[in-house]
Amino acid sequence: MSAAQGRSTFIVVSNRLPLDRITDPDGSSGWRRAPGGLVTALAPVMTDVDGAWVGWHGAPDETLAPFHHEGMDLIPVPQSAEEVELYYEGFSNSTLWPLYHDVIAPPEFHRTWWDAYRRVNHRFADAAADAAAPGATVWVQDYQLHLVPRYLRQQRPDLRIGFFNHIPFPPPEIFAQLPWRRAILDGLLGADLIGFQRPNDTANFLRCARRFLDANVKGREVQSPDGDGRITRAEPFPISIDVARIQELAARPDIIERAAQIRRDLGNPKTILLGVDRLDYTKGITHRLKAYGELLLDGKISVEDATLIQVASPSRERVESYRLLREEVDGMIGRINGQFDSILNTAVRYLHHSYPVEEMVALYLAADVLLVTALRDGMNLVAKEYVAARRGDTGALVLSEFTGAADQLKQALLVNPHDIDGLKSTIVRAINLPATEARRRMRSMRRQVLDHDVQRWSGDFLRTLAEASEHAG
Ligand code: F6P
Repeated sequence: MSAAQGRSTFIVVSNRLPLDRITDPDGSSGWRRAPGGLVTALAPVMTDVDGAWVGWHGAPDETLAPFHHEGMDLIPVPQSAEEVELYYEGFSNSTLWPLYHDVIAPPEFHRTWWDAYRRVNHRFADAAADAAAPGATVWVQDYQLHLVPRYLRQQRPDLRIGFFNHIPFPPPEIFAQLPWRRAILDGLLGADLIGFQRPNDTANFLRCARRFLDANVKGREVQSPDGDGRITRAEPFPISIDVARIQELAARPDIIERAAQIRRDLGNPKTILLGVDRLDYTKGITHRLKAYGELLLDGKISVEDATLIQVASPSRERVESYRLLREEVDGMIGRINGQFDSILNTAVRYLHHSYPVEEMVALYLAADVLLVTALRDGMNLVAKEYVAARRGDTGALVLSEFTGAADQLKQALLVNPHDIDGLKSTIVRAINLPATEARRRMRSMRRQVLDHDVQRWSGDFLRTLAEASEHAG
């Protein structure tokens, strides 16, 4: 089973490569590094050592040779159109995603999806095994690739293998529904270290390993039940953002001017509220709109005084539950605006686009209140970006207690988004927060974020992985 050994000493494996394809006006195409904390944190490690990134390049039915971009080796893993449907839209995003997010949408269980998930995970593991030098470190990312650590370990027992779960991990009472629960847990236990966002996710995983695999769990260590005696460690590593980059953009005169222009273009309202989400049912966008619409109806806010900017970036648009959500959000915003807009002012400025990070930072600077009302969210990096951008310690963050970020941003105005009355009063409180209280809260949150950037996160993970693999057995 042993694969040919490659030359990379550090390999990241994720469903998507951290690159966007761009087409130039002359029709030629190239690549641009995708915005995102993970690639920023890992790019320096990649270029210092002989690093490679294994992932899908985003186009179905296309096979690409490995290539080099800005100091990184990229190893594209192909997926057929059918695999995108069964493995990505199916098992990853219609089975695991809803199962891991409190079954907000009902998960579907299909054997054909599971077969595709296994097949594609094998392909990712093979690509990493081929690229890895003897004793290399391989860091596997997220729920699309739960089986890769085990497949990789089977081919290459010499490797140091880490796994990080970017989304929540469910309690055994919910995980129990998954027909392939044992195989998923066993897949993960191929790793030396498994990282989670929150202590709760870690505890859930350990309980699942004990309950469904009958594994020997001591503290945060799990002894693999397959008889080889190896130890896997599970620990929380809350992910963060590229703080320096956000701060640098927040200080740029053109971006500060753009923020002022956004306010002018909205008719200089007293308060700008902002929501920034992928258009996903886990983000609680409909709860936020319900609360906002009722506040307008109650006369607690008016379109002359306040505008809500809702950025909802398109996501997983071929998945039915996402299509239905879009219709619901479009309908709600249409109704709110139809009822409350004037010729001059709008209640909700709805932007169904993705924006470059420069425009996002201008929006963070323009917004007096950020609304994060997720029903369940592994972390929520938008909350951390908002805090990092608020250089003057002004602004208010309304933050769902069901996000990983709520564990760290304790001075946010925490809300239960299911409690619409509570959400309404918290929004009003945020709008009217006394300046001294706002400053005290923002200063404390900024201390936390500025001190825990994504570089620190990846450094902590990789150091712990080195220790864990030493004593994994
Ligand atoms: O939060 C999990 C995650 O996979 C992120 O890593 C990613 O940015 C987002 O969901 C959207 O992922 P995709 O468009 O690949 O489904």
